[in-house]
Amino acid sequence: MNYTLHNLTELDRALLPRLAEIHMGDRGLLSKLGFPFVLRYFEIAYKDPRVIGVYAQDDETGELIGYGIASPEPESLTSQLTHDKSWFIKQIIKILFTRPHVFIQLIISSITIKGQMNNDTEAIECVYFSVDPKYRGQKIGRTLQKALMDGGRAAGYKKIFASIETWNKASLSATLANGFTIVKTFREGMYHRHRLESKL
Ligand SMILES: CC(C)(COP(=O)(O)OP(=O)(O)OC[C@H]1O[C@@H](n2cnc3c(N)ncnc32)[C@H](O)[C@@H]1OP(=O)(O)O)[C@@H](O)C(=O)NCCC(=O)NCCS
Repeated sequence: MNYTLHNLTELDRALLPRLAEIHMGDRGLLSKLGFPFVLRYFEIAYKDPRVIGVYAQDDETGELIGYGIASPEPESLTSQLTHDKSWFIKQIIKILFTRPHVFIQLIISSITIKGQMNNDTEAIECVYFSVDPKYRGQKIGRTLQKALMDGGRAAGYKKIFASIETWNKASLSATLANGFTIVKTFREGMYHRHRLESKL
């Protein structure tokens, strides 16, 4: 299967729900918050000029098969989820009543995430990368993350960070193969994560 990598800025906006759908295969907190949150997150990332984003498209069918997102300020992406107050409150109330453990995790994660970047203005965070389950195991994930590193380097950043759950062997293998090293392992509520970094 042949595929091509594109810059996120080249994506037709109408295809953002497809990226959000691919993201729902991730077992992280954003997917647990639900599809409306994921879609809104992608709309925010799509518009943010500081985001380094890539997506992979099947050359034959045109289908979107994976994406990666990196940012020098990941907290600013998540904080923008609260900007439309009535939408946010409605979503949070729904989560509070249907999935209270997700609500508690949201509080824990929003506290833990603060300061993770150590105010390093020369660093970016590999926030998410994901491949449609049908296309996994073909080094597409590794290539997407490598493209984020190349994009970060080209934009003048010197370092890249990532947090990966300790059970996530595929993500860890891809990230270690891309030259990251584990700098610490920590607990964040229900998550047990490695913190990794690499020079760019
Ligand atoms: C993580 C993810 C993007 C990897 O994408 P992928 O295209 O399948 O991965 P690759 O083919 O590039 O493989 C990367 C490495 O993981 C290994 N790997 C792939 N699938 C694996 C699995 N299920 N179990 C263990 N190792 C696996 C590969 O052998 C490869 O290792 P190598 O480079 O040492 O040979 C994909 O599994 C995914 O979308 N997962 C859900 C979302 C997610 O967890 N994203 C990361 C959040 S931190």
